[in-house]
Amino acid sequence: MPGMFENLLWLEEVNSTQEVVKSKNLPAWTVVVANRQRLGRGRLGRPWHSAEGGLYLSFSVPRGFRDECTLPLVVACAVADYLAELGFRPALKWVNDVYIKGRKVCGVLTEGLKDRLIVGVGINLNQEAFPPNLEAISLKMVSGQSLCPLDFLAGLLEQMEKGLKELFLVGFSALKERIEDRLLFKDSEVVLYTPAPVAGLLQGIGDDGSLLLLTQEGLRAFSVGELTLRPR
Ligand code: BTN
Repeated sequence: MPGMFENLLWLEEVNSTQEVVKSKNLPAWTVVVANRQRLGRGRLGRPWHSAEGGLYLSFSVPRGFRDECTLPLVVACAVADYLAELGFRPALKWVNDVYIKGRKVCGVLTEGLKDRLIVGVGINLNQEAFPPNLEAISLKMVSGQSLCPLDFLAGLLEQMEKGLKELFLVGFSALKERIEDRLLFKDSEVVLYTPAPVAGLLQGIGDDGSLLLLTQEGLRAFSVGELTLRPR
């Protein structure tokens, strides 16, 4: 595992970096980056706005490591850790989004193949604006300054390597507390769409990365769902 991210393929425009990793049969950990995607994909079959200015990357991870299902959360946490290191105040929206000022700045997508997981990360870096229907924000819109994509990527991969090594060598327990500290809506009344709505008080994260809600039926753990703040 020493030096995970040793190969990098930086492309101008692709349909989706997820597809490049899948179709080219690249060695595990090879990072595919694109400046733009024609068909960027998000979770639940949604499109991912992939215009110039954002950073779009994917890589594959061989399956069979401990606490595998927590990978999206661990990757999102690494992004949040790195953004905090840069002076931003990110929050982690379970299960795999990073928010700043109530708007989405990063999304993580993991797709499982037989022997590997494809991890995709979309980061809103230098975009000046987004379509009004998206609750998105870029780091440039937050700070007023452009970030160098290459420097940003180098720092991010370093942080990601640290987080993933902790996961592989120690397990999710090593990261759980940090993730809970960064959790958006912690101790708030939320509604989780599973897709059926479940209302509860967000208590934290379980040892398997699940979301713990104190509901009318008691404490319940969820492994999927879309989280929103409960309207007052
Ligand atoms: C989400 O929040 O729904 C996840 C978004 C993931 C977007 C990234 S961008 C790089 C990679 N290629 C894709 O087509 N999607 C992921």
